[in-house]
Amino acid sequence: MANTKLKHILESQQFDRSWIEKILFPEADQMRKMVSVAKIKPYLKDKSICLLFYEPSTRTRLSFQNAGLMLGARVAVTENAKEFSSAVKGESLKDTIRTVNALGFNAIVIRSDVEGGATEAASVSNIPIINAGDAAGQHPTQSLLDLYTIYRHFGKVDGLKIALVGDCKNSRTHRSLAYLLGKFKKITLFLVAPKEFQMRPDILDYLDRHKILYKQVPKLTDVAGNSDVVCLTRLQKERLNGQNIKFDGSGVRLTREILSQLPKNSIITHVLPRSNDFNELPEEFTNDRRIIIFKQVENGLFIRMALLKLILTP
Ligand code: NCD
Repeated sequence: MANTKLKHILESQQFDRSWIEKILFPEADQMRKMVSVAKIKPYLKDKSICLLFYEPSTRTRLSFQNAGLMLGARVAVTENAKEFSSAVKGESLKDTIRTVNALGFNAIVIRSDVEGGATEAASVSNIPIINAGDAAGQHPTQSLLDLYTIYRHFGKVDGLKIALVGDCKNSRTHRSLAYLLGKFKKITLFLVAPKEFQMRPDILDYLDRHKILYKQVPKLTDVAGNSDVVCLTRLQKERLNGQNIKFDGSGVRLTREILSQLPKNSIITHVLPRSNDFNELPEEFTNDRRIIIFKQVENGLFIRMALLKLILTP
């Protein structure tokens, strides 16, 4: 993909690291610079972007919306499309995508409530489709911004020891980040979750194929002293389909003990929202300087500005 034009963004596996490091990250750095001096070039001034969100969102939606607006695009949003679009009347996703195509939009950012929804959308779309989360599938732009955050902190990704903590099974963000990290060298992944929430075989197979060292452990205390990056996540309770799994989050929650075990130069990320089910990132720790959750949000804006520019300009 290094030299080819980016069309759809559907899954993390589609990127190669040289494109990420040589094209995307420098472009995001450029966006950061322009925003910091309030001189943003209207690269997307003749473009219009449609945001179709079938599941709730705060950051991803506002981030794409503002990224488009800041670059001069017109942005239309159907939030809660499950209730407020013709989906209620039984319209198929394919027909909705054909409709948005026919209306003259230049790109669609979609958060689908079905795994594979973005790929299905791409199968009938002549304009780029950007996957902003497809149920428990993937969330590639979140993983790119998480990777960018890690890269900016350490100046590299190779060689890092990274703990993916919490609901690894259902978290599309952990899944996408695991796929992305599989492209780097000498990575160690700690998959921290009880059995019921461990990574699914598709990811484990991929990590094996890419010779990524990984270790599955039930508790963060098992690996905290040896982790450069700790990625926390909430319980994805909307994916449990009524299953009654009794787990209070012990072992996947940040505690004082873990904070004292973690190396000084480590970072703690969370894609947000944090929640009370695991209480994985208690409010009282928010100001610890290793916790960089709102830096992630800021980086998300720059990464999405960069992606939109790369997709929509020659
Ligand atoms: C996440 C998502 O929607 O997948 N949030 C995000 O996009 N930053 C994480 C979550 O819902 O837990």
